[in-house]
Amino acid sequence: MEDLKAQIDLQKLPKHIAVIMDGNGRWAKKHGQPRVFGHRNGVQSVREATEAAAELGVEYMTLYAFSTENWGRPAAEVNALMTLLVQTIRKEIATMNKNNIRLMAIGDLEKLPAKSHKALLEGIESTKNNTRMTLVLALNYSAKWEIMKAVRNLAQDAVEGKIKPEDISEATFDAALSTKGIPHPELLIRTSGEQRISNFLLWQIAYAELAFLPIFWPEFRRQHLYQAIIDYQNRERRFGKTSDQIMNTD
Ligand code: IPE
Ligand code: IPE
Ligand code: MG
Repeated sequence: MEDLKAQIDLQKLPKHIAVIMDGNGRWAKKHGQPRVFGHRNGVQSVREATEAAAELGVEYMTLYAFSTENWGRPAAEVNALMTLLVQTIRKEIATMNKNNIRLMAIGDLEKLPAKSHKALLEGIESTKNNTRMTLVLALNYSAKWEIMKAVRNLAQDAVEGKIKPEDISEATFDAALSTKGIPHPELLIRTSGEQRISNFLLWQIAYAELAFLPIFWPEFRRQHLYQAIIDYQNRERRFGKTSDQIMNTD
């Protein structure tokens, strides 16, 4: 594993890695256990991913923990996920402070159960001065919701004469999103083998490199992060240009 880590070019790290943590239910099923068992075991993967990213020097990591669509799951599973969220935040805050990691959240947070919302806000408050890495939890998050909200706010500002429609640029739109101030992810990882975005960060991943890993989230360990970063660094990010143009800029 140290070999793998040594292959990473620290000068070319993605600043922001986004992760769709998928496959908890299938992993649990494979072990003959209820789905919640998978969610509980996914917490260790969150720890490993967060610590490995912070140690490397990644500045932001966003984890998709609960989508707006996930409310449609059986109530018992939703409740278990919300309880796990409260327990995990409470338990991990000390470690996050020790590791100098700041917690943030994106999504329609006010619609979370009061207890989960409270634990989340406490975690955010308690870690707000940490500077090594920002861990962003996407909770009750949906990219279409986020975009609609930004559009509504900008339209309202225009109606009130605060801005002119022609003032709306990519930069002002960025600033109207819940990820305001956070660089766009250069790398998006999804576990479980599914190759879809599931309403995550649609605007922000316009040019992200995508890594679809054939493992379930509870199986995710540091080496999977290292390997995904190595693969990312071996890709040529062309941004619409030709390969020759990219080679000549070095
Ligand atoms: C991801 O695992 C966790 C959440 C969506 C909260 P799943 O629960 O989606 O697991 P699978 O995809 O059903 O295996
Ligand atoms: C995406 O996973 C959401 C999270 C990881 C929180 P899902 O398991 O909900 O996505 P679909 O339903 O397979 O697209
Ligand atoms: Mg899933």
